[in-house]
Amino acid sequence: MTEQPILDEDYCDDPANAHERFCDQPPIVVEGLVNKFGDFAVHDGLNLEVNRGEILGVVGGSGTGKSVLMRSIIGLQRPNAGRIDVLGRTITAVDLDQKIGVRRRWGVLFQGGALFSTLTVGENVEVPLKQFYPNIDDNLRKEIARYKVLMSGLPEEAIAKYPSELSGGMKKRAGLARALALDPELLFLDEPTAGLDPIGAAAFDRQTRELKETLGLTVFLITHDLDTLYEICDRVAVLADKQVIAVGTIPELIETGHPWIEEYFGGPRGRSALATHERG
Ligand SMILES: Nc1ncnc2c1ncn2[C@@H]1O[C@H](COP(=O)(O)OP(=O)(O)OP(=O)(O)O)[C@@H](O)[C@H]1O
Ligand SMILES: [Mg+2]
Repeated sequence: MTEQPILDEDYCDDPANAHERFCDQPPIVVEGLVNKFGDFAVHDGLNLEVNRGEILGVVGGSGTGKSVLMRSIIGLQRPNAGRIDVLGRTITAVDLDQKIGVRRRWGVLFQGGALFSTLTVGENVEVPLKQFYPNIDDNLRKEIARYKVLMSGLPEEAIAKYPSELSGGMKKRAGLARALALDPELLFLDEPTAGLDPIGAAAFDRQTRELKETLGLTVFLITHDLDTLYEICDRVAVLADKQVIAVGTIPELIETGHPWIEEYFGGPRGRSALATHERG
């Protein structure tokens, strides 16, 4: 496959067709990824494909490189080697500083939320709209932001609130609203339910599933939450030993017999999540 650099013009011509453009290829393809910090390799020959329209759960022990993998896929981390194609474009073939049109086709909820504390929820959602569509009229931009906030399950009153006035769960939803600002095809979520109570976490999971189904999203979901894996993920990728050691449904993963996977899904928490899932 030849490398296709990302050009802004590619995405300005016919947005209506953009979603259909690369249907024959998985939306995310990672091949032979190597990421090093000094002498320390986080990834060494990592391969992964994410299928269109799926929620792919990404699991692995703390420090195995889940967030670094996500940052590489969205072009924030320049890998030492390997190739990453996103929506038919080779992310690893362009300078990170170069303005890339493909960026407007994904939304990201970073681990920790990363909302601007001096902006209200509505203004936070307006940030990517201003950045990528500077010519949108102020009223329309506010209206789009309002719609995204409501779509993320926050009440109308939350639009004018500052992040410091929100609960942890509301902050996550505000981050989700901002990730949805540009009508993305791909949604990246880094531990979206971490720190939420079980009811809040389950509600967030339902919201993610609903959004995926109604908007036809492909979701890359990093999580330690076993309930999330059972309830909403179509497949799960396991990071260990600097690679993706297995990808599949949870029963398929358990069949691999890999010790880490067995311990993860077969330990007390794994068994309890499975029991909850089976009770439905
Ligand atoms: N900018 C950086 N500079 C140096 N080392 C880094 C940098 N970013 C990440 N690392 C290291 O890379 C490794 C993987 O980090 P990463 O944040 O991807 O882990 P993770 O799997 O997301 O962990 P967690 O589950 O705790 O979020 C860690 O050892 C981390 O210290
Ligand atoms: Mg992380």
